[in-house]
Amino acid sequence: MSRPTDFIPFYRPSIDREEEEAVLSVLRSGWLTTGEVTLQFEREFAARAGVDYALAVSSATAGLHLCLEAAGVGEHGKVATTPYTFAATAEVIRYLGADPLFVDIEEDSYNLSPESLEEALRNNPEVAAVIPVHVGGLPCRMDAILRMAAEHDAMVIEDAAHCLPREGQVEAPGSQGALGVYSFYATKPITTGEGGMVVTRDGELARRMSMMRLHGIDRDVWNRYTSRDASWYYEVREPGFKYNLTDLASSLGRVQLRKSERFLQARQRIARMYLEGLAGLDYLRLPQNDPSHSWHLFQIRLVLPRLKLDRDRFVRALMERGIGVSVHFIPLHIMPYYRQTYGLKERDFPVAMQCYRETISLPIYPDLEDEQVQRVIAGIRELGDCHFTRR
Ligand SMILES: Cc1ncc(COP(=O)(O)O)c(C=O)c1O
Repeated sequence: MSRPTDFIPFYRPSIDREEEEAVLSVLRSGWLTTGEVTLQFEREFAARAGVDYALAVSSATAGLHLCLEAAGVGEHGKVATTPYTFAATAEVIRYLGADPLFVDIEEDSYNLSPESLEEALRNNPEVAAVIPVHVGGLPCRMDAILRMAAEHDAMVIEDAAHCLPREGQVEAPGSQGALGVYSFYATKPITTGEGGMVVTRDGELARRMSMMRLHGIDRDVWNRYTSRDASWYYEVREPGFKYNLTDLASSLGRVQLRKSERFLQARQRIARMYLEGLAGLDYLRLPQNDPSHSWHLFQIRLVLPRLKLDRDRFVRALMERGIGVSVHFIPLHIMPYYRQTYGLKERDFPVAMQCYRETISLPIYPDLEDEQVQRVIAGIRELGDCHFTRR
């Protein structure tokens, strides 16, 4: 399929001279890997999230892996999570030889259903941790999830890959569980190309993750010896991982974090334009306009009985009209690996399946122009009106 020259991409990062200069200054400093810039980024992020510890990591996937390891999840352990997420959320459970226990989602938010979680925890008392995902940046019902996890002695690790704490926000998504993980992947609310941040208020967990993040090397021993001018000395306490974030990436992250409030306002504005421009259409359901939404994704739902075309054809037709859209998510329980390993069926998670069949994600990023937003709205309305059926 050839793309029109004025194709509206699904996503573009917002990068300008400030990021370029920050990266150049690290390049010229002679220190490219983890160092002072990363430490500053961690301090600034911890202050923003209102937590005691923030650890910069090479990706949110790496961060989730570190969290589960620090939580003591191991061989044959069980971790409850949603099937309505990206591969990363569940694969890290398998890295440790544990098994994901999928729990269905809520119809109107795409997030883990606390009611289904309660039932799953009752039937599986051995669950060691719960990973709720704030899908698209809409916060999960954390009060209920935290209460249920506490009752069952399970640690909550928030997958906040789609979120970013706001200035002065109390109880920001990602900062309420024992552990929370943010992503700085290219399409996320702020980006370092690849990267992530783990946050916690628990010093023991932070210490464990900080050691495992860099080859299982005990930093305390390192620090003791470096202060004695023996910078060559280190001790490996565990076979750890190589999950540190570079100063090059952190320099980008610091600038993006400073701009993040502006980025959010731009996405909120686009969300309002979509909500107004697409209101009142019988063949569409629009997302909740929650003030805590990070609007990483703007997901619309097709009311399929009111349309003469399905989601795949709707997506294709929008692409042909020069509008880049995407689908979040293909549920994990229908992925060959999980289907075959755990004998799962489509019907096991009916809400996730229905959401998947009906959902389309629209472009939403700070550099998207008003005229482009209007073209997206017009494209959807044209297509929907033309294939609308009253049956
Ligand atoms: C819900 C969710 N969790 C985790 C990740 C993994 O993030 P990263 O690419 O930083 O490893 C993603 C990435 O898209 C995601 O969407």
